[in-house]
Amino acid sequence: MYAIFLLFSFGVTFAASQQSFSVTQQRNPNFIKNSQAALAKVQLRYVVTGSVVASPQEFDSEYFCPVTIGDQTLNLDFDSGATDLWVISTAVADAQNHTIFDPTKSETFYNLKGSTFNTSFQEGSGASGTVGTDSISIGSVTSPNQAFGVANLISQRFSEDTPLSGIFGLGFPSRGTITPKKQTPWFFNVLSHLVQPVFTADLKHAAPGSYDFGFIDPKKYTGHIAYVPRNSSSERWQIECSGFAVGDAPVQPAPFQVVLDTGSSFLFLDDTVVESYYKQVNGAQNIAAEGGWVFPCNATLPDISFQIGSHLSMLNKDSLIFEELTATTCFGAVQSNGGGANVFGDTFFKEQFVVFDAGRGRIGVADKH
Ligand SMILES: *[C@@H]1O[C@H](CO)[C@@H](O)[C@H](O)[C@H]1NC(C)=O
Ligand SMILES: *[C@@H]1O[C@H](CO)[C@@H](O)[C@H](O)[C@H]1NC(C)=O
Ligand SMILES: *[C@@H]1O[C@H](CO)[C@@H](O)[C@H](O)[C@H]1NC(C)=O
Ligand SMILES: *[C@@H]1O[C@H](CO)[C@@H](O)[C@H](O)[C@H]1NC(C)=O
Repeated sequence: MYAIFLLFSFGVTFAASQQSFSVTQQRNPNFIKNSQAALAKVQLRYVVTGSVVASPQEFDSEYFCPVTIGDQTLNLDFDSGATDLWVISTAVADAQNHTIFDPTKSETFYNLKGSTFNTSFQEGSGASGTVGTDSISIGSVTSPNQAFGVANLISQRFSEDTPLSGIFGLGFPSRGTITPKKQTPWFFNVLSHLVQPVFTADLKHAAPGSYDFGFIDPKKYTGHIAYVPRNSSSERWQIECSGFAVGDAPVQPAPFQVVLDTGSSFLFLDDTVVESYYKQVNGAQNIAAEGGWVFPCNATLPDISFQIGSHLSMLNKDSLIFEELTATTCFGAVQSNGGGANVFGDTFFKEQFVVFDAGRGRIGVADKH
């Protein structure tokens, strides 16, 4: 739900006469990169111990899609690592620079009395508020009485991220924070109405990408889609990656569990993997004050590849520089998970086409054209 990488505004295309649709993303020109902020956000989500990076200065970037609630259209951040759908509402103080949801202007809105949500982390980042139901549509697909969070409190990072109107969770129902009664998230409510019970992510570097719901667009990938089962004891979109390779070296058969999270910016991996990658990069160093692994911008980076089922997902070196911190210091897209979960964030989605198959409990990956 947090560190995301590009900012988008949208056009929607309708793919078929049946219940399937595609949301197109547009890069937001206001996008400001901030590695440390993005890193801190993901560590807040995944860190399993108490050590976290200091609170970010800015909310930097994410992928947005237009979502219609009642008859109000808001740009939400689609997040496969979060479950809750919540919006910034008129109840939030100081939200004047956001496009916000006004429940009083929706004839189809109902307050779910006594229900609340709270996506907050201990550090005080996140959002909380009341819960309502309304008709919520993306493209041609509508969930008529969809429960969602109506935030009345948002953390600074959300209030500074003025193009953002909320989060659209695509994760599993069990991780929803609505109480006292859990509510089914949008995707799982519409699932049985979709042509195929899937959504796909095709994110792009500095260009419009898309999420498709209910179909797999053959124009968006090349070769075959390799499927691996989702780990059903995890509450996330989590799979096994059976090994990795740095540069042209052979794949090291070192299986690990990894979460596919469109709401994260980087690749967050165990130190053994991160260190064997940066061992191949002259001058690479893990510098706490910079927020993680940095290297001279003129260093030659190797590619990194991940074995997922029968498919080797190769991430090109060009996508492994996240940001130029200075003219000579670059921040890497491969970063330590600090002992937490392994995460494939947007660095992965920009290089690989991913199918989230809820019907068959699996994830598919393929190369893009
Ligand atoms: C809203 O935007 C205006 C103009 O950019 C700015 O001066 C003001 O500080 C912003 N308000 C908040 C609460 O961010
Ligand atoms: C939300 O949860 C956080 C973390 O558990 C807690 O600190 C905060 O007080 C909660 N907020 C509300 C409004 O309940
Ligand atoms: C599935 O995920 C759970 C929770 O993350 C983990 O404990 C378990 O080892 C994983 N299963 C496999 C087969 O790796
Ligand atoms: C990279 O730049 C530094 C100066 O910033 C220079 O000393 C070094 O030789 C350069 N390395 C390469 C491989 O070009």
